Amino acid sequence: MSQHPKCPLTSANGAPVAEDQNSITAGERGPLTFDNWRVFEKLAHFNRERIPERVVHARGTGAYGTFTLSRDMGEYTIASFLQGKGKPTELFARFSTVGGGQDSSDYARDPRGFALKFYTEKGNFDMVGNNTPVFFLRDPIKFPDFVHSQKKNPATNLPDPARMFEFWANSPQSLHQMTILMSDRGIPASYRHMHGFSSHTLSFWNARGERHWMKWHFKTNQGIRTLRNEEAVQMPPFGAQQDLIDAIARKDYPSWTVKVQIMTEPEARNYAINPFDLTKVWPHADFPLIEIGQLELNRNVANYFAETEQATFSPGNFVPGINASPDKMLQARMLAYPDAHRYRVGVNASQLPVNSPRCPFHHYQRDGTMAGMPPAFGSDNNQGSGVNFYPNDRTTDGAPAPVPEVAEPPMPILGKAWIKAYDTQQGDNFTQAGTLYRLMSDNQKNQLAGNIADGLIHATASVQQRMLAQFGEADPDYAARVQQAMTDIA
Ligand code: HEM
Repeated sequence: MSQHPKCPLTSANGAPVAEDQNSITAGERGPLTFDNWRVFEKLAHFNRERIPERVVHARGTGAYGTFTLSRDMGEYTIASFLQGKGKPTELFARFSTVGGGQDSSDYARDPRGFALKFYTEKGNFDMVGNNTPVFFLRDPIKFPDFVHSQKKNPATNLPDPARMFEFWANSPQSLHQMTILMSDRGIPASYRHMHGFSSHTLSFWNARGERHWMKWHFKTNQGIRTLRNEEAVQMPPFGAQQDLIDAIARKDYPSWTVKVQIMTEPEARNYAINPFDLTKVWPHADFPLIEIGQLELNRNVANYFAETEQATFSPGNFVPGINASPDKMLQARMLAYPDAHRYRVGVNASQLPVNSPRCPFHHYQRDGTMAGMPPAFGSDNNQGSGVNFYPNDRTTDGAPAPVPEVAEPPMPILGKAWIKAYDTQQGDNFTQAGTLYRLMSDNQKNQLAGNIADGLIHATASVQQRMLAQFGEADPDYAARVQQAMTDIA
């Protein structure tokens, strides 16, 4: 006879279970009887264990940490977590690869997602960036096609570099980011050894109602470490996840120095580069990095699915003092992510502990799938008996009401704003790619050319010619090296 256990096994309704190894049958050989409700519950729940994986950035690793402000930012923003030197703010981070599914390798040549959720006392601010300061596109209408071209071949379900280059040959705006991806920086050795960037321009505004444009930079304190292709294929597929979990478990907490770039509104109007073009950096010589704090990751998740998989980051999760910029990619992302969350996790995803604000929150949204889960912090069960419409006569009794003092200063539209599809395909696609190329050492240039040649060799002659023309526009030596590397492989 087994002893009475310390923790009784129960079914989902909490009732103690007497037997969990043998189903109830009519006779030893069966069949099952229809009153096997515990078996049915187990099987039915098992069938529903999966939720859709993220359509991009499916494979990721999460951890909690702290952001500590080292410089008061009141001159630029009213954001509460950026006031008062030394102020700590709890956060959740998720790092990811982009193109692969959940069971792909951590070591793909691929950008890495760098997503942060700051649990500020005025709501959650999500910084949903990458490990690169720019992106492949400047217009969101191209995003689904771009991702299709980078993922697996729809017929064979195999990686297909020819399709990647076919897209890039037809989208020269990708050249800058593609050059970073194919460079020696293209495969981070771990999530701890890479930088993070908002890439987008966001806005800060201060108590005087002045707006500044800004970009986030997170500089790894572990130093940059990368892998070559031949090293990456030797790595265990879950190596980056293991590395982060192990480092935190042994209290070797990874950290990043947090910096911002700031641009005034007049500077933005007159600057030679469109400051809202996601394919461009703001040169540091013109807009120096300003150090504002430290980010440290110091707590592993207790449950991967509940926390990391169900984490929902949105580029539209802003707090007073930080908001969007005119970047059209950013506007599209503000629609796409919450839409993905409603599909992937559910309309009440923000009630889950990992996503819920840590500050009290009150609004008039109600019901929907899984509304009323006991929230970890903040509001009560589906906001309890509180009034569920606004305007009402009860704000003096504590019903939620807007707070006009957190209004963003108005933003003028400068110049003509005719509504049409503006053609940005032929913007300056090559200058910054060329500048980056010329910053590389001879060895780095050769690695870049070799990595490109490895994939480009599989593309059609027409795609190869158009890609070589793009490299030549950036720098004639860039084209010559890729041509030579292809000849060496052939
Ligand atoms: C129009 C452009 C883009 C679209 C439509 C788009 C769309 C998406 C979608 C639908 C997801 C999955 C969200 C989820 O299921 O939770 C996602 C994830 C992600 N995207 Fe984008 N994306 C775009 C551009 C970018 C850019 C420019 C960056 C970085 C600067 C970026 C960084 C990320 C990151 C880090 C994640 C994973 C977030 C997490 O860890 O949960 N994306 N994207």
